[in-house]
Amino acid sequence: MLAMSEKIAVITGASSGFGLLTTVELAAAGYRVVATMRNLERRHLLDDALRQKNASAKVDVRPLDITNIAAIPGVIDKIVADYGRIDLLVNNAGFAMAGFLEDVTLEELRRQFETNFFGHVVVTKAALPAMRRQRSGHIVMVTSIGGRCGSPVIGSYSASKFALEGWSESLRIEMQALGVQVVLVEPGAYKTDIWDRNSQISPVTLDPASPNYPRARRFSDYALKQVHKRDAREVAQLILRIAETPKPKMRYVAGTDAWIQLLLKTLLPWRTYERIIAKTVKIDRLD
Ligand SMILES: NC(=O)c1ccc[n+]([C@@H]2O[C@H](COP(=O)([O-])OP(=O)(O)OC[C@H]3O[C@@H](n4cnc5c(N)ncnc54)[C@H](OP(=O)(O)O)[C@@H]3O)[C@@H](O)[C@H]2O)c1
Repeated sequence: MLAMSEKIAVITGASSGFGLLTTVELAAAGYRVVATMRNLERRHLLDDALRQKNASAKVDVRPLDITNIAAIPGVIDKIVADYGRIDLLVNNAGFAMAGFLEDVTLEELRRQFETNFFGHVVVTKAALPAMRRQRSGHIVMVTSIGGRCGSPVIGSYSASKFALEGWSESLRIEMQALGVQVVLVEPGAYKTDIWDRNSQISPVTLDPASPNYPRARRFSDYALKQVHKRDAREVAQLILRIAETPKPKMRYVAGTDAWIQLLLKTLLPWRTYERIIAKTVKIDRLD
């Protein structure tokens, strides 16, 4: 039975990482969460985490692959029919396609955009009529610091996140008069499956015949050492705070690494900035 004051949240990519942890934070804080995931066989991790917080009853797990564009409106309409409203939509599902842009195929780039851009666009558009009727609602887009600063070797990912940032900035202004809050969350590197289980690398970049292969190897060694340090619960807790803020800011940067990169990009002359980035990620010299 739905309590009158219970807020309804919908989240994509709830089987892992930020999506799983945000579902737990929201449920523990009293939200009714419709936690969607593309593969229900992976729900046991979420189920275990919810049990530990005594929050299982607050979560309704449903299947949703955000690249299945034709299915999305039906899934969202059914949620609205079942719960009557959507107070919070967290567009979180995503992955990173690695590879030098010279090597990444158009097909791979399109695949990156299908999930990280078009998937979120279609889910959001499906939720907007309910929020328009309500004259309220929060839409949180999990983008990345890579959506503010073009990142080498994950340029396809950066491009998809830049696209989502531009779309969301425009949407925010359009929805202001309707009381709907569109917010960008821009994390740096956090420990989730995006770096291993879900990482995708363009096969051409991995081919020793690629002229970029040695630089790709050095980048990979650097990236594997650098990432997976911060606790992803920070981002889940941030999303809960945003959900609880009636008029949130447009952007929330998360993580010291993200702040440092943004400050360097903002403050340094571009030529200095790009030299530092190339050197840091070990792609500044050819072999
Ligand atoms: N971790 C970081 O350092 C970091 C930094 C900046 C931004 N982000 C962003 O944070 C978001 C969440 O990623 P994460 O770090 O939590 O990684 P993650 O642990 O790999 O989680 C990604 C989630 O997205 C789901 N997913 C992928 N493609 C999907 C699709 N087509 N339809 C539905 N679900 C799909 C995955 O499902 P499966 O479990 O089935 O694979 C998984 O639940 C992404 O948008 C990512 O770009 C992450």
